[in-house]
Amino acid sequence: MAEIVIVENKEQAGALVADAITALVQRRPDTVLGFATGSTPLPVYQALRERFADIDVSQVRGFALDEYVGIDPDHPESYRSVITREVVEPLGLNPELVRVPNGDPETAATAGDDYEAAIDEAGGIDLQILGIGTDGHIGFNEPGSSLSSQTRVKTLTEQTREDNARFFDSIDDVPRHCITQGIGTILEARHLVLLAFGEGKAEAIAAAVEGPLTSFVPGSAIQLHPRVTVVVDEAAASKLKLADYYRYSYENKPAWQSL
Ligand code: GLP
Repeated sequence: MAEIVIVENKEQAGALVADAITALVQRRPDTVLGFATGSTPLPVYQALRERFADIDVSQVRGFALDEYVGIDPDHPESYRSVITREVVEPLGLNPELVRVPNGDPETAATAGDDYEAAIDEAGGIDLQILGIGTDGHIGFNEPGSSLSSQTRVKTLTEQTREDNARFFDSIDDVPRHCITQGIGTILEARHLVLLAFGEGKAEAIAAAVEGPLTSFVPGSAIQLHPRVTVVVDEAAASKLKLADYYRYSYENKPAWQSL
């Protein structure tokens, strides 16, 4: 099962995950990282700033999870812009080594296959950072997405468009389509790190971690993966039935077990 780590706050979560990523990059300078967007992973990227300043990250490669289709790549809320602003520039990564799915509608039919080929060519993703939507989506794999799906175009639910409207002037500006790594793609990464904060994510986390495996909660696909770390604050953990067991396991974790 996934390792569930219940932390006090976002900063602690960011530090914990950033330490694991830094250790990975130190072991393997050309590590392939999977980057999520949204507000949740920001504490990780923040914590990585000082850590990456002290090590050689020139060979680190990266793949974003998803992108809106039909958004101008230069729009400040395109995921290309977000990844450049929050990850590539502050962490000093080589922009040529960090890819974001191509959201151009003209090439959308083949962009998914191209992205899969690029991930394969890089040797796969070593560590995939994930957030979770309030409807249980990971990446932009909305409820009902095939558990073996690959990178492809999807239609966003109204719930997701409403959730993401805060980044745009109005909900009418939120694109209706996206291109996202599939659930199958995500499951191929060697280590999944799913983060969630706040009460609004409590149900999605409980369903993903302890609910039945179902395409209707795409996050529940983590139950199929042999190496998953779920990092949540108390509020996001508040609906977990076995929270005490997770706390006990983490407190008694042998030193030889890393995150
Ligand atoms: C978007 C992203 C997801 C992210 C989700 C949650 O839909 N495509 O990758 O996990 O939002 O966002 P937030 O972290 O802002 O709650």
